[in-house]
Amino acid sequence: MENIDWKNLPFGYLKTDYNVRCYYRNGKWGELEISSSEMLNIHMAATGLHYGQEAFEGLKAFKGKDDKVRLFRWEENAARMQSSARGVLMAEVPNDLFLKATMTAIKLNERFVPPYESGASLYVRPLLFGSGPQVGVKPATEYMFVVFVTPVGPYFKEGFKPVNMLIAREFDRAAPLGTGKYKVGGNYAASLTSLQKGHAEGYASVIYLDAKEKKYIDECGPANFFGIKNNTYITPKSDSILPSITNMSLLQLAQELGLKAERRPVAIDELGSFEEVGACGTAAVISPIGKIVDSVENREYVYSKNGEPGKVSTQLYNKLRAIQYGDEADKYGWITIVE
Ligand code: PLP
Ligand code: COI
Repeated sequence: MENIDWKNLPFGYLKTDYNVRCYYRNGKWGELEISSSEMLNIHMAATGLHYGQEAFEGLKAFKGKDDKVRLFRWEENAARMQSSARGVLMAEVPNDLFLKATMTAIKLNERFVPPYESGASLYVRPLLFGSGPQVGVKPATEYMFVVFVTPVGPYFKEGFKPVNMLIAREFDRAAPLGTGKYKVGGNYAASLTSLQKGHAEGYASVIYLDAKEKKYIDECGPANFFGIKNNTYITPKSDSILPSITNMSLLQLAQELGLKAERRPVAIDELGSFEEVGACGTAAVISPIGKIVDSVENREYVYSKNGEPGKVSTQLYNKLRAIQYGDEADKYGWITIVE
């Protein structure tokens, strides 16, 4: 086994032993296939390549103190991939196939699940795309579903430390009636220039506003946004953001911690009134935000002066991680043991 520095893993691709694949042809899914190749052999006119007929998911598996491997809320990822499939007219991956494929991919690569002490996890990446050829703009008749896994550390290199974010005023990620609520590749293509600009200016990510009025917060790059004030967890309601499973979980955990929880439009004018703000997602977990800069409007909002995360963000982070690693009872039924 190659020497993996589990404690210092970046969020990136590391080759593992196997991946799984399944083909949809003649109106039905075939048998799951196991492969040790990192390559796919696909038609040059595949709709996934030309017309963005594709969707992906991201979920994580965690090794506990008891050495058991726990997969977090896979049913929600399966449901979201089905929603994305409907959004761009692809064949849907049924729950049983989604579960079998993710479980098989994890089990076959069990030696890549990071040890408990490392604080790292195994990222599972299901991918669905139109593999059949079309030249006119139409959905494919054939689809390919692939699941690979890769061990990962924190998405933002800072880990659980406040990062700075830039409000993207010159770019939109998704239109109000567009595909923002689906996890389709086109949304990420649309985010690349703004992210690159933010990174070049020293920001960990950018914050998108609603595309129509530029008045409300949408989300933070590849993560949802939340703010804390007056003992309340507040997160934007918008049709152009990805419905985050982490955020959905935090809404519930916040209430368990005695906070109120609100999902509603969050006006940019409200930024100054939050006590803590953060980004949340599978990859990002919780990334506290230290400062938000609105350079076009010449405004700055500072949340962390000492470089430390806020109290509520820390409580939420610890609670979520404790459930994911099996240190705390799984009272909501979010965990599936990989066995
Ligand atoms: N928003 C976007 C655009 C994302 O890519 C992600 C990552 O999946 C999230 C939010 C967070 O969603 P989740 O918590 O389900 O990972
Ligand atoms: C995730 O949080 O799972 C993501 O997919 C984020 C990003 C890597 C696209």
